[in-house]
Amino acid sequence: MERARPATPHLYLAAIGTLPGARGRGLASALLERRLSAAGQDGFLISNTRGTVPFYARFGFEPQGELPIGRGPVVYPMIRRK
Ligand SMILES: CC(C)(COP(=O)(O)OP(=O)(O)OC[C@H]1O[C@@H](n2cnc3c(N)ncnc32)[C@H](O)[C@@H]1OP(=O)(O)O)[C@@H](O)C(=O)NCCC(=O)NCCS
Repeated sequence: MERARPATPHLYLAAIGTLPGARGRGLASALLERRLSAAGQDGFLISNTRGTVPFYARFGFEPQGELPIGRGPVVYPMIRRK
């Protein structure tokens, strides 16, 4: 993860989740838009699944390849340049 993240100061988005019954109503998008509009610096996140990569790409995050975690899962680092 340290190798994948930007070398310069940046916003790190640690986690986001919407309860299953409330998904698809724009809640996560609204949170991301609010946080990113106030960021003023590059953004970095790690998508837990390939499936959410297109969701983050909507907000300008660019895929940085795959990051295997030892014998664990493969995760997907993404960077958004301000
Ligand atoms: C990803 C997540 C936070 C989106 O929350 P949400 O409040 O439903 O998001 P929004 O309503 O703002 O946007 C939903 C849009 O993203 C798309 N999307 C969300 N997750 C997706 C996925 N896994 N694969 C493909 N598209 C996805 C939806 O199709 C929808 O598209 P639409 O606007 O064209 O209908 C929610 O699905 C969730 O909590 N998932 C489980 C936890 C998780 O995976 N967190 C991210 C870890 S990296």
